[in-house]
Amino acid sequence: TSVLILNGPNLNLLGTRQPEVYGTTTLNDIETLCKDHAEATGMTMEFCQSNHEGALVDKIHEARGRHAGIILNAGAYTHTSIALMDAISSVELPAIELHLSNVHARESFRHQSYIARVAIGLICGFGARGYVLAMDALKDHVER
Ligand code: DQA
Repeated sequence: TSVLILNGPNLNLLGTRQPEVYGTTTLNDIETLCKDHAEATGMTMEFCQSNHEGALVDKIHEARGRHAGIILNAGAYTHTSIALMDAISSVELPAIELHLSNVHARESFRHQSYIARVAIGLICGFGARGYVLAMDALKDHVER
């Protein structure tokens, strides 16, 4: 199973960004975690991050034909981006919405998600570990 793990705005600052909310794990640490998990479970993965909505749309388009599914932590674009929602619908790949923090325990503007409407499911609140959980969930979904 090949998966695109896509990270949105401000996630490049993980490690120093609001550690009380997001922990001290860096995005590089998370990439290593995912790489190790991919090797252990026979998956292939592409891991990327962008602060730009259009670049994220491009990555989703490019995933078609290359990957079996998408794991998306769209950051704040989760709550605002019809473009990302449409991109996922357009490529017809299974997508999992992911957040480090439990967005439902936070401000009400984080309770709204455009991604959730087109995702097969979502994982939030488990920190970096959520990436590994999402990989397992996607693999399970694709192999079924
Ligand atoms: C986040 C939650 C979003 O609400 C926030 O804008 C982020 C990070 C998370 O991983 O917890 O940038 O996606």
